[in-house]
Amino acid sequence: MERALIILKPDAVQRGLVGPILSRLEQRGLKLQGLKLIQIDEALARRHYAEHEGKGFFAGLVSYITSAPVVVLVVAGKAGTVELIRAMVGATNPAKAAPGTIRGDFGLEIGRNLIHASDSPESGERETAIFFQPAELLTEWVRAADPWIYE
Ligand code: RTP
Ligand code: MG
Repeated sequence: MERALIILKPDAVQRGLVGPILSRLEQRGLKLQGLKLIQIDEALARRHYAEHEGKGFFAGLVSYITSAPVVVLVVAGKAGTVELIRAMVGATNPAKAAPGTIRGDFGLEIGRNLIHASDSPESGERETAIFFQPAELLTEWVRAADPWIYE
């Protein structure tokens, strides 16, 4: 199994797009391990986006991600799941994201791109540990639909 940390960013929550975006992930067959509504504080934002510290957009990114509540979730699937989710999310700049992707269908600007998704299995594990205590995650639950999603 491989898993990704996903954040439905403040614009997704404010625009009432939590349901539509979650639906896409659910309908694809991805399996939830954790889900919660939180407000990210500055320290957590800086830790999560540490790789971007020093870049021109960093201050704006921290301000955006801390500006209102977000929904964070962990989704799991077979090997390749992280890459598959990134394809569903689309290009970082929604103006350039393909139609059919989340950013390409719901967004227009890079600073309001609605969703974060881990960019590698290693990031998935690192980011999951930042946002969730082990006790908040259900990693072993049996989903009735599993045999109808995976051969
Ligand atoms: P994310 O980490 O949020 O899933 O997005 P990503 O991998 O597609 O893009 P990344 O390069 O990691 O950038 C993180 C977030 O920073 C904001 N950003 N703004 N103004 C800019 O040039 C710029 N570049 C990046 C976006 O919110 C992006 O999602
Ligand atoms: Mg990224």
